[in-house]
Amino acid sequence: MNTMNPKHAAELLFEGPLAEEYGMLAVICPSAAEISRRVGEYVDGWMPPYPEASLNLLEIGSGTGITTACLLASRKVALVESVDNAPAMLAQARHNLAAALAAKRLRLIERDALSHLQATPDASVDAVVSAYTLHNFLYGYRQSVLKEILRVLKPGGLFVNGDRYALDDAAEHLKSTQAEVRHYFRVFTELKRHDLLEQWIVHLFSDESEEHIMRLQPALEMMADTGFANTRLHFRDGANALVSAVKPA
Ligand SMILES: C[S@@+](CC[C@H](N)C(=O)[O-])C[C@H]1O[C@@H](n2cnc3c(N)ncnc32)[C@H](O)[C@@H]1O
Repeated sequence: MNTMNPKHAAELLFEGPLAEEYGMLAVICPSAAEISRRVGEYVDGWMPPYPEASLNLLEIGSGTGITTACLLASRKVALVESVDNAPAMLAQARHNLAAALAAKRLRLIERDALSHLQATPDASVDAVVSAYTLHNFLYGYRQSVLKEILRVLKPGGLFVNGDRYALDDAAEHLKSTQAEVRHYFRVFTELKRHDLLEQWIVHLFSDESEEHIMRLQPALEMMADTGFANTRLHFRDGANALVSAVKPA
């Protein structure tokens, strides 16, 4: 039984130093770059079950554009429409992805994910892609986002998410999170950045809270319950995992 608080609000979690120095993620979580690369690779290798010369993607959570760049590296990708509700993150994405914006292969949209999905027509997108965004959502908001993703996908369309999926074994997850916290302390103490240490620890408390935590098995079940088919785990490295599913054709 789900005992989680089903809150449905969008939150603004990426502002101030955490957002302005988001590049620090590469130091505190090197696995994230690997997941972004795998997300791009998965989309590049994916064949829709219908004739399609090129793909139109919707990305949830542009951030600074790390995963977006991996998507744009695929020649199959005609257009990435990418939505994020944090102005400080989008400002960096605009700078980092200026060439794709100029070439009109990318649209960056400042809006919360659910509102944008709700404004997107039925069956209009080949693939919805995300990285390290859904785990930030409140449980009920995540459920609503998944329903909307299913609606906007073309039949046979792909949903791929590379994200922080908590380990299903709570004791193992605690050990892994404690190791992460120790790593944050080592990195930020060496850099003499106690301000950023505070920001990332506070953020981790949000990720780990009962209303947000995204454990792998319940997350796969939520996708199947929403109506996705072929829900699969492709890769896992600690809490970092790559998951995909399709809209039944
Ligand atoms: C951890 S970052 C990941 C960014 C990027 N996908 C990457 O791979 O580096 C999560 C991003 O999701 C965005 N985000 C969080 N909640 C959101 C919401 N409700 N609507 C839109 N964007 C959201 C944040 O602003 C942030 O830029």
